[in-house]
Amino acid sequence: MIDIPQNGQPDNGQTESNRASDDNRGSDDNRASSDSRTSNSPLTTRVEFTGTAEPDSDQHRVSVFTAVGGQVFFDRLVERFYALVAADEVLLPLYPDQVNLGPARERLALFLAQYWGGPGTYSEMRGHPRLRGRHVPFAIGQAERDHWMAAMTVALAETVPECPLDAELQAVITQRMTEHFNTAADHMVNQTG
Ligand code: HEM
Repeated sequence: MIDIPQNGQPDNGQTESNRASDDNRGSDDNRASSDSRTSNSPLTTRVEFTGTAEPDSDQHRVSVFTAVGGQVFFDRLVERFYALVAADEVLLPLYPDQVNLGPARERLALFLAQYWGGPGTYSEMRGHPRLRGRHVPFAIGQAERDHWMAAMTVALAETVPECPLDAELQAVITQRMTEHFNTAADHMVNQTG
């Protein structure tokens, strides 16, 4: 049985159709689901994570965005990630503005929030993500990819425990996000050797 706090209820009006249909999704369909129904308890709900978060209150579907606590989760994740980028001698030289990483931080936080079922602010600001294309100006080989992934893994490990979810669901979130980041990071590599 998997329970989540009441604040993981669906926020259907906000998240419908907002998922980024980006080319870096790989084969991950973003779904994690429990198979327990606990609607007799006011503090728990059956939960099915869905990137699309279409209205479906009978089944108590919630987006990952909602389940992890909303935008604040992605802001913290990316803040930690960029603190590591700023100290990374492989990653930092890739950034056009190494003095002010703030705009890059904001774009990544909005992109990830949108990808995991949150509002479509990233696409409103930047258009279609086209992430591989946006990364072409930066020379990304295996070393850069591995440093990126290592920083994100640390940031996830520090941020997921702050989610309003029990340990079991936190583990599901960590696994899903790690799988997604691994696939997406592979996709950004544009240098061989
Ligand atoms: C594989 C290693 C990666 C490296 C070395 C890398 C590096 C970079 C750099 C240098 C920028 C430009 C920042 C700026 O404009 O100031 C950038 C932007 C961005 N990256 Fe990555 N990245 C990597 C992987 C990823 C992955 C896996 C994702 C998503 C899951 C991602 C999402 C983004 C986003 C959303 C932007 C902003 C795009 C825009 O709207 O301009 N990156 N990245």
